[in-house]
Amino acid sequence: MDALVEAALAARERAHAPFSNFKVGAALEDAAGRIHTGCNVENATYGLTMCAERVAVFKAISEGARQFTRIAVAADTAVLTPPCGACRQILWEFCGDVEVVLVNLEGRIERFRLKDLYPRPFDASFVR
Ligand code: THU
Repeated sequence: MDALVEAALAARERAHAPFSNFKVGAALEDAAGRIHTGCNVENATYGLTMCAERVAVFKAISEGARQFTRIAVAADTAVLTPPCGACRQILWEFCGDVEVVLVNLEGRIERFRLKDLYPRPFDASFVR
């Protein structure tokens, strides 16, 4: 299996999701081939919960990565779980039109471009 997909599935195991019990893992590949993982981290106030995808992006940015190629997202759903709207915005702003690889625990995989999942995005080009 693709190392990126394996990393997303492994990251899912580290999810902190005691409120929803919905575990998500993400693995973001940078232009140097390095993989940055993330899992969802929930909070008792619910609203402060952070999705797996944004954890992966913020970890990667904090490590100095700036260019990205792909992100894999793993969850235990028959209909493959896509990034939420907030994550699509963050992915667009930090990663651009990356490939988004969705996977479930049965190893079912679907691939998209972020542009197709998040058409006509707002970004820094409007405010500069
Ligand atoms: N969640 C993610 O981490 N990524 C997604 O793509 C969808 C939703 C998390 C947030 C929350 O911890 C749980 O899944 C249920 O919404």
